[in-house]
Amino acid sequence: MSLVEQYCPKGSRVCDIFAGTLAVSFELKRRGFFVIANDINLFSSVIGKAFIVNNEIPSINLRKLLPVSASPFRGKAKAWAATLIGKPGFQFLQQQEYFAAYVELLALLCYLQQLRLEHLPKDLRRTDFYDTYTEGGKNSQFLSQRGRSGRRRFFSDANGLHIDAMLNQIRFWRRNQFLHETVYNTLLSSLIRAVEKVSNTQGTYHDFPREEIDPRALNPLKFEPPPFDTTLKGGEHIMGQAEDSLSFIQRAPSHSLIYIDPPYNFRQYTAYYFLPNLICRYSDIQDLDNYFSKVEFVRGQNMEDDFISPFCRKPLFLSSLEFLVTKAPCQWVALSYFDGRNHWNDFKSEADTIGFEKLKKFFGSSIFRKKTLKVEPVKRINYQSYGGYKAKEISEYLFIAEKS
Ligand SMILES: C[S@@+](CC[C@H](N)C(=O)[O-])C[C@H]1O[C@@H](n2cnc3c(N)ncnc32)[C@H](O)[C@@H]1O
Repeated sequence: MSLVEQYCPKGSRVCDIFAGTLAVSFELKRRGFFVIANDINLFSSVIGKAFIVNNEIPSINLRKLLPVSASPFRGKAKAWAATLIGKPGFQFLQQQEYFAAYVELLALLCYLQQLRLEHLPKDLRRTDFYDTYTEGGKNSQFLSQRGRSGRRRFFSDANGLHIDAMLNQIRFWRRNQFLHETVYNTLLSSLIRAVEKVSNTQGTYHDFPREEIDPRALNPLKFEPPPFDTTLKGGEHIMGQAEDSLSFIQRAPSHSLIYIDPPYNFRQYTAYYFLPNLICRYSDIQDLDNYFSKVEFVRGQNMEDDFISPFCRKPLFLSSLEFLVTKAPCQWVALSYFDGRNHWNDFKSEADTIGFEKLKKFFGSSIFRKKTLKVEPVKRINYQSYGGYKAKEISEYLFIAEKS
């Protein structure tokens, strides 16, 4: 990140074009840059709008939202907020007006935390997550391409039902326009973070362990308080609408530097993260019966939501990168690259340099000013083991050059 500070004046615009979890965007905002971010995953867009574009504690009208008295939830929320004062991310709580606004947000989370299906009116009680993604559900059976059958178990039955209750409530508020956009995005962000902590997965939602249940998944789903110190930094930031970065970049305002952290293999992120994306999409799906009747594969994804990224296809990678960089209205281009197993490298031989050389050639093209290229190595260990090949040290590089 200090590299960005070397290249870009404080307060300039920086584009995080494959933002993913937004780790880079958060750090940019924290350091006083104006962020332009996009990612094809809807969950990324939702978090970005809640915490990067938004600069305030969202204002919440509990009386309008809750069907019961807000007092017990407010009482719990006050006690909860008091325990956070002074912790990293929560310096803002020392200001009285922020504290008061934050208590209302925590109270809303406390309400959702205790909400169960039976608290909702009968006509709002749907069980889509329980039915589709837990062992007890009536639509959770799968048949794999290898002929193995079983039941999906991304969540415990209890957590599946809890997710349903909360999503039914949020969907009702959303469809009746009771929720300001920022409150909606903040609630969804909190929910996907809480869901991630109790998901029976090994990192992504592409699959779940078939033989065992991760003990984490047996814990009850629990909200964590969202930190707001970085959010309250202010500034004008932009988050895309979960679109293809090749189209987003054509509308992006000018910026000092574009940070490009693309996928380098065939794995499609919209498949790997389809469940957080679905949580974010759920309230806006008109016909839920129709939607869930079309889920496919062991994981149970409706493939109409899927997106095949050109960066995940070896023959399209370099031409897509060229298009992206050419269209980006910026001065500096920083590309992150790691030489693990990817489009060009098999990660088996010691000399996996093909990808590196191809990118070096790309940065030597007329798109860039001569002699401006710097390649900064960043060493790290790759703990993944591919096809029996043990973890080995991989090299991560940052290519930085000025556009001509
Ligand atoms: C290596 S990850 C980036 C990780 C990110 N820097 C972070 O801190 O989480 C690549 C990201 O590119 C996104 N992506 C891939 N192809 C895309 C495309 N054509 N348009 C927009 N996003 C895309 C994926 O969804 C994924 O989040």
